[in-house]
Amino acid sequence: MTVHFIGAGPGAADLLTLRGRDLIAACPVCLYAGSLVPEAVLAHCPDGARIVNTAPLDLDAIIAEIAKAHEAGQDVARLHSGDLSVWSAMGEQLRRLDAMGIPYDVTPGVPSFAAAAAALAVELTVPEIAQSVVLTRTQGRASPMPKGESLANFAATGATLALHLSVGQLEKAQTELVPFYGADCPVALVYRASWPDQRVIRCTLGDLTQAVDAAISRTALILVGPALGAGLTAESQLYSADYDRRYRPQSADSPWAEWRHGDD
Ligand SMILES: C[S@@+](CC[C@H](N)C(=O)[O-])C[C@H]1O[C@@H](n2cnc3c(N)ncnc32)[C@H](O)[C@@H]1O
Repeated sequence: MTVHFIGAGPGAADLLTLRGRDLIAACPVCLYAGSLVPEAVLAHCPDGARIVNTAPLDLDAIIAEIAKAHEAGQDVARLHSGDLSVWSAMGEQLRRLDAMGIPYDVTPGVPSFAAAAAALAVELTVPEIAQSVVLTRTQGRASPMPKGESLANFAATGATLALHLSVGQLEKAQTELVPFYGADCPVALVYRASWPDQRVIRCTLGDLTQAVDAAISRTALILVGPALGAGLTAESQLYSADYDRRYRPQSADSPWAEWRHGDD
């Protein structure tokens, strides 16, 4: 018996990995975080599967469901939204399973920041503009921010920020970020990326609080930084015609000239 933790993706049912789909189809028990995992993903469950929405359950009740399946020798598909490596609450479940000797594995999913970038058709890293993406949030009730992880500290780097769980704190984000990025800095807010009711709002940091209407109260990604700007022209050297590289040595003297595919 194994508990398969599966990243269910950002919302669109076809943004699930093939591995995730096949595991769901093979498990007689499915526990899913109903607040964000789309019901359409549950269509992959086998007939007769026990399907439990864990949104109203506390951790003990979720672990009790897993323990019940373990006693019955039934594999469990445990679905969380996006990818499991960020804000999934997987860690505390794994620690409980370790203590109980229940085996598990983890299948990654498409994270919401990637779905938001796809909705915008942008690259979040732009040569000479931003080479880092910070996945962060403003402080919420469930998890205080560790000392040092302030928006100001991240903003001081000039990197592209992907603010999760923060649509209720736009004013705070604006106040803390404007001194670093400037009021003209481009912002893109993507509400429910990849869902049928996806919305995209492009504005500046200075306009952020006015640009977002009350209908957008949760499940939004806020991307901030100069990489979101229009008309950027800097290009990576990777595909430039005269860039000497392993796959395209430019001369017989190139350090790559002797290299053959399959050498590493
Ligand atoms: C509990 S976190 C889960 C993050 C998830 N594990 C991931 O990989 O993206 C929930 C937050 O992720 C963001 N989020 C999740 N799905 C989203 C989507 N489809 N569109 C925009 N933001 C989304 C929102 O900021 C939301 O408040």
